Amino acid sequence: MGFSEVLLASPGSVLGLVLVLLLVYLVYKYLSSDPGPPGPKPLPLLGNILQLDLKRPYLTLSKLSQQYGSVFTVWLGPHKVVVLSGYKTVKEALVKNAVVFGERGLLPIFVGNNAKNCRGVKWSNSEPWKEVRRFALFNLRDFGMGKKSLESRICEEAQCLCEVVKSFKGKPFDTKAPVNCAISNVICSLVYGSRFDYDDPEFTTLVSHALQNMHLTSTPSIQIYNLYPWLGRLVPNRNKIYKFREKMSNQNLKFFKRLRETLNPQMCRGFVDAFLLRQSKESGVPDTPFHEENLVQTVMQLFSAGTDSTATTLRWTLLLMAKYPHIQDQVREEITRVIGARQVKLEDRKYLSFTDAVIHETQRLINVIPLALPHETNQDITFQGHFIKKGTTIWPLLTSVHHDESEWEKPHSFYPEHFLNKDGSFKKRDAFMPFSAGRRICLGEGLARMELFIVFVTLMQRFQFTAPPGVTEEDLDLTAQRGLAIRHPMPHELCAVPCD
Ligand code: HEM
Repeated sequence: MGFSEVLLASPGSVLGLVLVLLLVYLVYKYLSSDPGPPGPKPLPLLGNILQLDLKRPYLTLSKLSQQYGSVFTVWLGPHKVVVLSGYKTVKEALVKNAVVFGERGLLPIFVGNNAKNCRGVKWSNSEPWKEVRRFALFNLRDFGMGKKSLESRICEEAQCLCEVVKSFKGKPFDTKAPVNCAISNVICSLVYGSRFDYDDPEFTTLVSHALQNMHLTSTPSIQIYNLYPWLGRLVPNRNKIYKFREKMSNQNLKFFKRLRETLNPQMCRGFVDAFLLRQSKESGVPDTPFHEENLVQTVMQLFSAGTDSTATTLRWTLLLMAKYPHIQDQVREEITRVIGARQVKLEDRKYLSFTDAVIHETQRLINVIPLALPHETNQDITFQGHFIKKGTTIWPLLTSVHHDESEWEKPHSFYPEHFLNKDGSFKKRDAFMPFSAGRRICLGEGLARMELFIVFVTLMQRFQFTAPPGVTEEDLDLTAQRGLAIRHPMPHELCAVPCD
């Protein structure tokens, strides 16, 4: 049958075809007439997704910034995103224009159908976000963030971690599970008011569900779901994530029930207690974010945000120490000279400048969260000569800040001297922003900095980290695994040889 015969045989399908072509044309016209910052030409419906490496999008975006400048547009399917690149641009947006660029850009996989006051602290905006963020910061501080009590909890956890590491007797082991357990447990102490034994099934389930959930949210199929949420159940990873969330939510509800039964207003054990007390005060207040469903969301977010980023940073630090043994020797020499074998304290940090510089340099080089989290503009703005509409999604490319050639002497090398003055004292650098900046700056920065310092120093006091037998230092791979949100090191093993 020829083409003209097909046309005559099925006029309905011809009409359908014409409508589809018209739609494609209109979408194309719409995309190409948008007046925003420059960027690669989008395809109808697909935008620029064929040009982006969905497994490591920050790499493609860094390349595009060389072509289109520090403020540019990419289209993710039908969704417009403005990318900010380089220290000066990211700072000008997030700090100088903090309010305009300070909203959270919402991703369907995290928000689902949740109401505004039911999105925890990470995925909320306006009043519910302000209230819960203020409450979380105040209470996490009250339970120790930046205080002595938390310091001793972290020291206790660091010692437990050392016992696990010691049990490998210098043989090769994967650092992932032990480090994750230790860091998760610090969050448990803060949130629930008590730590778990590492082999407690309640704890191992909690950690493993959180990790699997984090892993799935970084997969390319979930990036596609975020662009076309109408795909719904057709995306298998989306269904798995929903199942994990339900399990984690039920487990948390069980914990809350126990905590509620033993709640004593005179003696708050942790964040959940404080929230439950506030909840009872606010019962009957319309639209309050202090209700049980939002508690579940907030606790799950603190748990996932507080575990993976910190544990992954610590694992990169150990990997870098094994790769650069002369730097590890310098760290250990400083620790031995300044504090010897006694338990490290937070106040030692100012006398351990080289060690502190190594931790900062690790965070700079590895860019554990390369794209921050999405932001959104809350009004129209002309930014660096470009018009950006209210409601536009913004991606601050943090990795470009840490590799900005106008800011760093050796942007692509591991060079702790970036953070040292000539006299060996610690040098603060403005272009260091692994926790982002502005209104949405990481809520757990204080906690994470304490954990990284105490746990790293404690491990360095007790063990020499090396490549496994048969693997050279050059073989230790610093390439990150695929993933949108967090840069994990490739699966690897290290040996931890006891120092004494
Ligand atoms: C090395 C460890 C960590 C790094 C590198 C890190 C980094 C970040 C970054 C880049 C953001 C996004 C900021 C933005 O949107 O511009 C963020 C947000 C957040 N982080 Fe962290 N983080 C770390 C540890 C923690 C810890 C320990 C906690 C838990 C207490 C935590 C809780 C949060 C929360 C709740 C948010 C959302 C804040 C909001 O939207 O208002 N993070 N973090």
